[in-house]
Amino acid sequence: MPLISDPNLIAGIEHCDDAGVYKLRDDLAIIQTLDFFTPIVDDPYTFGQVAAANSLSDVYAMGGKPLTAMNIICFPINKMEISILREVLLGGLDKMREAGVLLVGGHSVEDDELKYGLSVTGTIHPDRVLLNRGARAGDALVLTKPLGTGIINTALKGNMAGDDLVAKSIQCMAQLNKKAADLMTGYSNVHACTDVTGFGLLGHASEMIEGADVGIVIHSSSVPIFHEIQKFVKMGIMPGGLNRNRKFRMDMIEVDPDCPEWIVDVLFDPQTSGGLLISMPPKEAEELVGKMNDEGIKDAAIIGEVVPETKGKILIK
Ligand code: CO
Ligand code: CO
Repeated sequence: MPLISDPNLIAGIEHCDDAGVYKLRDDLAIIQTLDFFTPIVDDPYTFGQVAAANSLSDVYAMGGKPLTAMNIICFPINKMEISILREVLLGGLDKMREAGVLLVGGHSVEDDELKYGLSVTGTIHPDRVLLNRGARAGDALVLTKPLGTGIINTALKGNMAGDDLVAKSIQCMAQLNKKAADLMTGYSNVHACTDVTGFGLLGHASEMIEGADVGIVIHSSSVPIFHEIQKFVKMGIMPGGLNRNRKFRMDMIEVDPDCPEWIVDVLFDPQTSGGLLISMPPKEAEELVGKMNDEGIKDAAIIGEVVPETKGKILIK
């Protein structure tokens, strides 16, 4: 695609960043993002919450502050009760309220399948934009939410997942990345940040170092996961996206022989509304994780480091 360049464009579509960022003044840039998808849970209100939390996350992943949002909705008006639409929108609205974001409009179309999400606008200081590239050798990598929600959704569809596990997974997906981002942006030396969504942890980590002169080491036993999913993975209960993610990125991945095979699958699990993946110096990373844990982001952990060797590769230990 022939792209138009502009000196004020800070992040466009070239490097798979989470959102577009455009400089308006020396001290102000706008962040724009759009995300919507089909239901991943049965309850319409919960679906609205998860979809909104996911859409807002891309602004947090740039280090920005979301200000306004617009609904985008596809609805099968002839097949579905209108009350379902109302519930979805209410769920989304509640998340916007929690985020301090103003709903300013939106658009709906008739479609065969329900789809919902937000277009979000936020702001940031142009010097404080966090791209997905920029990780430096010596950095620690922080992940703020556990992995496995894609596998749990698949198990749920096959009636294999217990109520407790499903409830935990939903709570995780509906959780805003706001507090994590607020704590993160308290540090001026964060080098890179993205959020873990459809490509899984390894897919998004790959984007961080693709073409860069650093590599990544992941300590698989330190990665927060929903432990109940081990049995599902061993039974082959995994979303189709997981296999696609693995196929797409496996040439960038090396797995230590001591690392259990099922963990690698989990690291490729597509997440709906996953956590932030942050690259920053280890001392500050440890402090940040401590603060996150104290403030209720209890799964946040250091999961690996950025290394000068094995450029463009991810080693899983
Ligand atoms: Co993103
Ligand atoms: Co996105």
